[in-house]
Amino acid sequence: MAQGNGRAALVTGAARGIGRSIALRLADDGLDVAVNDLESMKGELDAVAEDISAKGVKSAAVVADVSDKGEVDGMVETVAGELGKLDVMVANAGIAQVKAILDVSPEDLDRMLAVNVRGVVLCCQAAARQMIEQGSGGKIIGAASIAAHKGFGLLGHYSASKFAVRGLTQAAAQEWAEHGITVNAYCPGIVDTAMWELIDEGIGDLQGGTAKKGEIMNQFVESLVALGRVQTPEDVASFVSYLASKDSDYMTGQSVMIDGGVMFS
Ligand SMILES: NC(=O)c1ccc[n+]([C@@H]2O[C@H](COP(=O)([O-])OP(=O)(O)OC[C@H]3O[C@@H](n4cnc5c(N)ncnc54)[C@H](O)[C@@H]3O)[C@@H](O)[C@H]2O)c1
Repeated sequence: MAQGNGRAALVTGAARGIGRSIALRLADDGLDVAVNDLESMKGELDAVAEDISAKGVKSAAVVADVSDKGEVDGMVETVAGELGKLDVMVANAGIAQVKAILDVSPEDLDRMLAVNVRGVVLCCQAAARQMIEQGSGGKIIGAASIAAHKGFGLLGHYSASKFAVRGLTQAAAQEWAEHGITVNAYCPGIVDTAMWELIDEGIGDLQGGTAKKGEIMNQFVESLVALGRVQTPEDVASFVSYLASKDSDYMTGQSVMIDGGVMFS
């Protein structure tokens, strides 16, 4: 059972996938952990919060849409109230969509940017305000991607949204350094989650619908990943554990590849 270490974290989009693994890992590290997701994921979200409590640390489950400023501000206030403070914000929630750029509608673009860019900006702002008020610094961590370093065909507007997260990370690191707040982002590769199921299906459909479930993902892994296996959410969570810890105190403004060797910086 984890020994509480007096620090508190909030992970958005944590009902499943990478966010869930990050939340559980931070609880193993001894942090109190609040988890967030959409109303439609409430059952899964509550189950994650129960798994966190079972590790012997405090937990809270807060439903909010990260693209809505009022809901984000309310979420951070609730978390600071329930856990006593906020030391680590992981702006993990994100969406993907497979579409050729010529077919991306204004509505597709707005939805992508609302969650992946506005959502991350709002979560970072609300967390930074809380941390500045507390006066003891903090760690702000965003979800970027290998697609924040290289645009991928059929994921054009997704890639654009992740490049934006990288830009925000660099700027926020400079603005908030004086408050002892570091800002970094993790850049996963091909992680076996519901998001890649969607990408696998989307690319398969555009290629004529003959590929079996998982076939496209496996092709990407075989052709792109040096370590030769698909990434697990835990592979991401162990790196975010480092970003949330004191060990990363001298790192800020970085968007770091944790991808099994797809991209090389
Ligand atoms: N899976 C990958 O290969 C991969 C690679 C690189 C980066 N990422 C990024 O990592 C993050 C997590 O991805 P994942 O694979 O776990 O995805 P996922 O789809 O499995 O989980 C994302 C979670 O975010 C939630 N969410 C979506 N919109 C939300 C909103 N407006 N407000 C609150 N919650 C919302 C979803 O309900 C879901 O539970 C995303 O930002 C994604 O872009 C994923």
